[in-house]
This record gives sequence, structure tokens and C-alpha cells, in this order.
Amino acid sequence: MNQKKLVGEKAASFIEDNTVVGLGTGSTATYMVEALAQRVKEEKLSVTCVSTSNVTKELAIDLGLNVKELSEVDEIDLTIDGSDEISPDYQGIKGGGGALLYEKIVAVNSKKVIWIVDDSKMVDHLGAFPLPVEVIPFGSEHLFEKFKEKGYKPAYRMQDAANKFVTDAGNIIIDLHLEKIDDPKQLAQELESEVGVVEHGFFIDIVDQVIVGNKNGEVEVLTV
Ligand code: 5RP
Repeated sequence: MNQKKLVGEKAASFIEDNTVVGLGTGSTATYMVEALAQRVKEEKLSVTCVSTSNVTKELAIDLGLNVKELSEVDEIDLTIDGSDEISPDYQGIKGGGGALLYEKIVAVNSKKVIWIVDDSKMVDHLGAFPLPVEVIPFGSEHLFEKFKEKGYKPAYRMQDAANKFVTDAGNIIIDLHLEKIDDPKQLAQELESEVGVVEHGFFIDIVDQVIVGNKNGEVEVLTV
């Protein structure tokens, strides 16, 4: 049973005619985009899409969806995206695919946000998944050292053995291998105060609903 496909299709069924939809990034969001494209074709829906990454944008255009820039729409009605970890109080870590900055900008400009995940993403504590921090390349070595001194176990996100991963906005990512984060809000504030940090992967008080799939093929819709 493909849990990611299941929740992707379920989420696509929530999309209404004549709406603006934010398209997430990642393998789960891809299933949702494919299911949405099918619905648009079959049901002749009028849906305007705003993407959270260049990868999703290309996929959506290939599938015939109407994609606009965020600046071209007043507001997004519903954004559907994946997540890497979700705590019991519905705080999340995102950015495993490196799209955290645009994902967060799209999310905060959305009336409603739904995350679609398999149940392995529902965790007791955030932090087993490395926390991505998107930083300006200029002088990033100093931030890296600072994170190291604080015991945050930083590692540059790599594209391949020789090259750092570069985000759609032209920045780089330092992943913090924290294992267990006691106070996400406090760490979020601390990271936001660092010059050179563009955005971090904490998504605090952002999600409205979570659609979770399990191995038995059951889907649960959790409202925050
Ligand atoms: C990309 C993300 C993704 O939504 C997150 O990594 C989940 O990905 P997947 O659905 O492939 O497990 O935040 O930046």
C-alpha cells in the first residue's frame, strides 16, 4: 500500500472549483499534483496553482495545470504540502527537499494549509530529522562554526560529493543534526536572530489539517 499516494489523492479530492491552490514539494506532494491534474482534466475544474519550487512548477506545467507566480495572485485558498516531522502539537520540520523558504512563503500566504504524510512522520519530539537552515552563501562558514560551537552538529547539504546544494533562491542549506529538540519555538527565534540565516525548517503554528496514511491503507484527517 502506497501511503504517500493515498494521502496525496485524498488531499486532491478536497480542492474546490475556482480556487487558488498552493502546490507543495516532495514525493507525497507529487502524488497530489498528479491527482489534481487528473481531476482538472476529468471534471473540467478551474484551478490556479502557485508552486513552492521549480521542480513542482515544471511538473504542474507538464501535466497541463495553470501555474501562476505568487505575485500574480491575491491570496491562496489552500496549500497542500508534505512534511518531514510533525509533533503531537502539530509543529513541523520541513525542507527535506530543500524547498523550505518558498514552502513557508506560500504557506503564510494561504488561507488554509494541509500537510500530507505517512504515519512515520508523526513523532513524539522534533529533531530526529535534521533541521534545515537556509543561509546566504556569503560568510556562511562563520555561521557553520557558530552552530558547531553551540553543539548543533551542522552539516552542509550537498548536491553531490563536490558541490553544495543550492536552493531555488540561490542560497545554501546547513542541516542541524539535533536528535531531540526540547523547545522548537525558542530555537526558531534564536535562528531568526542570526544574520545570514534566511529561513529555518520549523513550521510553527502554520498547519490547519494533517492527512495521515498508515500501512493498512487507512487515511486519517486530523484537524488542528
Ligand atoms: C521539501 C519538503 C517536503 O515536503 C518534505 O521533505 C516531505 O517530502 P516527502 O513527501 O518526499 O517525504 O519539505 O522541502
